Amino acid sequence: MARKYLIETYGCQMNAHDSERMAGLLEQAGYEATSDAADAEVVVINTCSVREHAEDKLYTRLGELRVLAQEGGHNPIVVVAGCVAQQEGGSLLKRSPGVADVIVGTQAIKRLPMLVERAMATRRPAIDLDPFEDVTFPLGITRRSDPVKAYVTIIEGCNEFCSFCVVPYTRGNERMRPKADILADARDAAASGRKELQLLGQIVNHYEAPDDPSCDFTALVEAIHEIDGIERIRFSSPHPRHFSRAFLEAMQRLPKICRHLHLPAQSGSSQILQAMRRRYSRESYLELVHTIRELLPDVALSTDIIVGFPGETDADFEDTLSLTREAQFHSMFSFKYSQRPNTLADKRMPDDVPESVKTRRIVELQALQHTIQSAINARTVGQTVQVMVDAASRRLDTELSGRTSQNVVVNLPGSADWIGRTVPVRIERAGPHSIWGQVSLTDAPTEPTLQNAGN
Ligand code: 5AD
Ligand code: SF4
Repeated sequence: MARKYLIETYGCQMNAHDSERMAGLLEQAGYEATSDAADAEVVVINTCSVREHAEDKLYTRLGELRVLAQEGGHNPIVVVAGCVAQQEGGSLLKRSPGVADVIVGTQAIKRLPMLVERAMATRRPAIDLDPFEDVTFPLGITRRSDPVKAYVTIIEGCNEFCSFCVVPYTRGNERMRPKADILADARDAAASGRKELQLLGQIVNHYEAPDDPSCDFTALVEAIHEIDGIERIRFSSPHPRHFSRAFLEAMQRLPKICRHLHLPAQSGSSQILQAMRRRYSRESYLELVHTIRELLPDVALSTDIIVGFPGETDADFEDTLSLTREAQFHSMFSFKYSQRPNTLADKRMPDDVPESVKTRRIVELQALQHTIQSAINARTVGQTVQVMVDAASRRLDTELSGRTSQNVVVNLPGSADWIGRTVPVRIERAGPHSIWGQVSLTDAPTEPTLQNAGN
């Protein structure tokens, strides 16, 4: 019987994709997936350290695995991967003695099977935190977890060094993946039936092909747009300061690029933005928002905001509220500032906004955003929107969910064999986080993507 593995993933899409790669590597080495830790010879915990709360989840989980070992007598090889592995390295062994067997850094995942074998053979911890410039990954190994959507990495690491952010320390310096490898990966995803690509990079719109000096992010997306079978292209996360007008004009021409841009603002105060080392001001951010609105009026914007960054005053926070009102985001991820090891803010700026103030600010910001996005979603009632169906509802087997090009979640009745199709949906009801409707064949009878709706 094949040996079993389980991968548990925390954090961002980059981690989700690394887990798909690690799953593929373990399967190539003869392992089979299981969803039960008690059944697994290898348990990989793919960790996140972007905020302290995310990091704490690792220690909780390691504690649970220790109990499983002590009480259940089950002692799998425990691998700690991801950003906490890179950040803490061997000190994890001191913090959780006897639990972690392999610590694999963010740049060393291709060596995972070898490290697992070594730990099994020697019964001693195997650690690899080395930086690797090489960003190649063998084609066809990744075990993609979604039948409709596929992640494709285009850049690894980050050189931006925003003062709050641990990523440049945990994921290393920025490395561009060759254009030829990206296109091969994207074609492979299309050939396996994936309809939507999600291009990944810490600053995805900073792309410059190492194998083609004339290919920037715009040219790369144009090349990907040519791939038959791919219907939608998304990307995360861009940096506001790296958007070119040429890219926005390409979006006007290229219909497969989804009408959604994630523009992490982080703050609405120019002073805080400067302390964050974001290298744009409130004014230039809002100018970008207005340019997007002018060139691409149907584009939905989303953002990330941090409240309670060191030195943030009530007036700075008011600037964040007014930027939120002005930008009219379709959705927002908001976070209380959390001090992270090694960062510039950690070294130079005391975490001086009291927890109670951070809480008050985040509650106020989320209430404002709730009102804004409820109103935006309410305007879709009565409209017919194109929805790519991507999942069956977890609660009702007759309910499906999907997304509009703007990335709004739509719930609709239907059968699971619609997954992967794009259908016109007439919206009947809207809430703050999703909208509801029914497939409407009369509303858009000539819609080309409906051609495959009867298969
Ligand atoms: N504290 C709070 N939020 C953070 N983020 C990144 N670092 C921190 C931190 N130290 C948020 C940013 C980023 C998102 C992925 O996580 O908003 O865009
Ligand atoms: Fe972190 Fe800034 Fe790089 Fe984003 S751009 S990963 S926030 S350092």
